[in-house]
Amino acid sequence: MRKNIVAGNWKMNKTLQEGVALATELKEVLKGQKPNCEVIIGTPFIHLASVAEVIKGSVIKLSAENCADKESGAYTGEVSAAMVKSTGAEYCILGHSERRGYYGETPEILKEKVDLALANGLKVIFCIGESLEEREANKQNAVVKAELEGSVFHLAPAEFANIIIAYEPIWAIGTGKTATSDQAEEIHAYIRSLIADKYGKQVAEDTSILYGGSCKASNAPELFAKPDIDGGLIGGASLKAPDFKGIIDAF
Ligand code: 13P
Repeated sequence: MRKNIVAGNWKMNKTLQEGVALATELKEVLKGQKPNCEVIIGTPFIHLASVAEVIKGSVIKLSAENCADKESGAYTGEVSAAMVKSTGAEYCILGHSERRGYYGETPEILKEKVDLALANGLKVIFCIGESLEEREANKQNAVVKAELEGSVFHLAPAEFANIIIAYEPIWAIGTGKTATSDQAEEIHAYIRSLIADKYGKQVAEDTSILYGGSCKASNAPELFAKPDIDGGLIGGASLKAPDFKGIIDAF
């Protein structure tokens, strides 16, 4: 059975002190609770080790937002998958449209990152999704198919079991414009059918597919009620503990 997951993506927000304070507050609001979903927070690299200490003994799990496409060596400023793993993080977000768009991360680069993250024992939250222009040209299915084929469909079935997919239509990220629950369900079902074609029905049924893009406590219940939407990848609303808790409570 696949897991329901609510994952935060802090992006480039919060100083170390602010991030530790947010993680501490989130741990407090979740104390004694048994959420009906896995709870993950994705933080900048510099927060990982400190936040890992804060969330010890809580239900919260930790993710990086990126990792390098090289194993180790002379790559000034980069952070490897092994380094991420050594902080206590269990997950790594890869393929976010902001990385693809602003930092030129191609499907080939992302394939390297996915392989290194998995080889180092991290689970990958792999993001896919179309731009507004592509949606208006009705190309969204072709876009997500190419993104999966380009960076994760080379994996063996046992490796793919460590992949979580996040469908994030670029036009819905940070815009306040959410995909309707029907729009999201339609493409989530399509993504699951692609996984079934590649890996078989059981693997497809076991894969969590998250929705991301202006997801908040007010729209999460309707989105999460859809059969193929297994949770959310949350940007803005993950930066305040009560807002994030509101989304967790949607399950
Ligand atoms: P927002 O929730 O701020 O729209 O961001 C979504 C996102 O990009 C999560 O990765």
